[in-house]
Amino acid sequence: MIARAVTNLLANAVKFSHPRHDVVVEAFAESDLLRIEVKDQGCGIPPEAIPFIFEKFYRAPRLPPLEEEADAPGVGMGLAFVRDIAQLHRGRITVESEVGVGSVFTLRLPFIQERFDNSKENVFSHK
Ligand SMILES: Nc1ncnc2c1ncn2[C@@H]1O[C@H](COP(=O)(O)OP(=O)(O)O)[C@@H](O)[C@H]1O
Ligand SMILES: [Mg+2]
Repeated sequence: MIARAVTNLLANAVKFSHPRHDVVVEAFAESDLLRIEVKDQGCGIPPEAIPFIFEKFYRAPRLPPLEEEADAPGVGMGLAFVRDIAQLHRGRITVESEVGVGSVFTLRLPFIQERFDNSKENVFSHK
């Protein structure tokens, strides 16, 4: 499922970019989480659309040079899936984007969901 989420981000990065522009994926292991960044130099996302892009079926207004639906076809489900997967793993998906410059999607996934807490009462102990 995590692989599918990254694939969705990659597919968008490619779809909303000029074919000659690079798409870069980087993964960073931090102390308690994995950070995956997918960066493109594509059309970018208007700031007013950003709050909605993770909602099912939402698609931002088409920007140059991708004005036609056929330039970047889709139904608006990919990022909703990414957000669901992030949340199911107690992680987060965020985006920074500038129109005409590109976008960076960052997926953060904690390594350990729940730690065993020794300070809590041990239910198996007998007094
Ligand atoms: N890398 C990106 N660059 C520009 N716009 C993007 C990018 N990723 C997502 N978007 C915007 O967010 C919308 C929702 O993305 P998504 O849920 O994957 O749907 P779809 O790919 O079917 O359009 C897209 O329609 C587009 O407007
Ligand atoms: Mg998509």
